[in-house]
Parts: sequence; C-alpha cells; structure tokens
Amino acid sequence: MQKEKILELKNEQEIITDSLWILGERSKDFGHKNAYHGNFIPQIPRQFIKRFTEENDVVVDAFLGSGTTLIECRELKRFGIGVELQESVIEMAKNIILQNNNGFFDNSFNLENFNLKIIQGDTASKKVFFEIENQLTNWKKKIKLLFLHPPYFDIIKFSDNKDDLSNAPNIEIFYEMMGKVIDNYLPLMEKGSHVVFVMGDKYQDSQWIPLSFGSMQEILKRKELILKSIIVKNISGNRAKISQEQLWRYRALTGGYFIFKHEYIFFFKKIK
Ligand SMILES: C[S@@+](CC[C@H](N)C(=O)[O-])C[C@H]1O[C@@H](n2cnc3c(N)ncnc32)[C@H](O)[C@@H]1O
Repeated sequence: MQKEKILELKNEQEIITDSLWILGERSKDFGHKNAYHGNFIPQIPRQFIKRFTEENDVVVDAFLGSGTTLIECRELKRFGIGVELQESVIEMAKNIILQNNNGFFDNSFNLENFNLKIIQGDTASKKVFFEIENQLTNWKKKIKLLFLHPPYFDIIKFSDNKDDLSNAPNIEIFYEMMGKVIDNYLPLMEKGSHVVFVMGDKYQDSQWIPLSFGSMQEILKRKELILKSIIVKNISGNRAKISQEQLWRYRALTGGYFIFKHEYIFFFKKIK
C-alpha cells in the first residue's frame, strides 16, 4: 500500500485496525434501510472498501441481497457488481440504491450512471462468470475486493431455489457449494486483491456447529489465497425483547451452552 494512503488512513479514526469489532448502531447514512432480514450492517463493506480500494476500483458482492455493498460503492465512487439469485430481492435492491435525496426511487437514475451492475443468477454458475467477465472487459478492470455474505447454511431460508445456499441438503454440500462460489471468482481477481467472508455459526442437536471455520477451511484449500485476519464482530441491532432474553438465558443455563453474540469476518488476500 502506498505511503500516502497509509498516512491518510492512520488519521482517519473511523478506520478500525483491531480484530474485535464492537459496532454500534446500523449506519443509516446514504439511504441505507434495514429492510431485508439477513442483511449486513453497512459499516462492514465501508471499512474494507475505504481501506483496501481506491476510487474507480471494482468491488463485487457475490450475494448482493438488499444492495448494502452497492450503496457503499455508489457513495464511495467505486465500480460495483452485485450478484443475487432472487428477482424480487434485486428489485428491492435497485429501489434502495437508486433513491433520490428524499428517499424515493428516482427513475431518472440508472445503475450505469453510477458504474454499478446487478446480475441475476446463481453466483457459482458459468452464466454469472461470463457476465462478470464481460462487464470487467468493458471497464478494462479486474476485481479488487470481493464480498461473500452467503446464507449461514439453513438458519434463514432465503428461497426455494435449489441453487440457494440456504437449501444445501447438508453441511458438507454447503461447504462444497461455497468452494464452487470462490472458484468462480478467483480467475477474475487481481493479484494482491482481497476477499471478505462474513459468516456465523449455528446450534443444532445440542451442539455448536462451526459453519464459519468449516467454510474458511474450504476457502483456504485454494492455494491462491492466504488468510490475513479473523475478525470477531458483535451481533448488534437485533436485540431480542427482554422477555425473550430471559428465555434464551434460561435455555442456555439448562442446555449448558452460551448464547450467540458474535459472528466472524474472514479476510483473505490473493497472492497469485
Ligand atoms: C445473507 S444474504 C446477503 C445480504 C446482503 N449482504 C445485504 O446486506 O442485504 C444472502 C443472499 O444470498 C442470496 N443467495 C443465496 N444463494 C445464492 C446463489 N447461489 N447465488 C446468488 N445469490 C444467492 C440470497 O437470496 C440472499 O439474498
């Protein structure tokens, strides 16, 4: 990284350099809305985009959902591509991304005005690969930063589509599907570029299932990638009602376990 950029970041107090992230309220800047169950807090893409890319670099979100990453791209002047399986979710994302200052969809804006593109399809498919490759060729660029915020296996069912990672028949197949996703993107990424992978764990049959570390191991089978950091982030903004908290506390005490209050952000660098 250039010396000037390091000095600039050093003075920017907002940039976090520790591996424990206790984030406060979900950011409502730039028209972000908390409209999609399973969205991530905008501070996640913002931290990585600001620190690891420059203006006009290409940022890709392989599981776009409600468009959080592309809103950040629009605002921070990065070229952005988002891939999402569900048509209806893409419509929602477009409405949020293309809103005017009053918070309403503005049909005089379009995604190209902001160097943004949304692709509908299975993020692990050849169709999606070729569409991204085509867009990158038009822009004469490669991917600088890739976000992976997939379903946390079957915790939230996002659709009935068999390609949806939340419908993986078992955990082994979920890990395999994750592997296919990363294989689809690596050839489109620059040497020295980065991957951000956000994932939580689950509790099932009285056991903690470490989905996050299982997926991380699958990703690390790709020798082009090295692990740079594992960040532990608090889960904020979805605090249960006090009565429910008491119920969870009772369940934890009787079941002999601890209640989930964190998730992970795995950060990789492409070295080849
Ligand atoms: C955890 S959400 C992502 C939320 C997003 N970060 C946001 O802030 O709104 C995961 C998304 O991945 C989508 N998805 C699941 N499997 C997919 C696949 N094979 N290809 C593309 N999208 C997929 C789901 O429809 C869902 O919208």
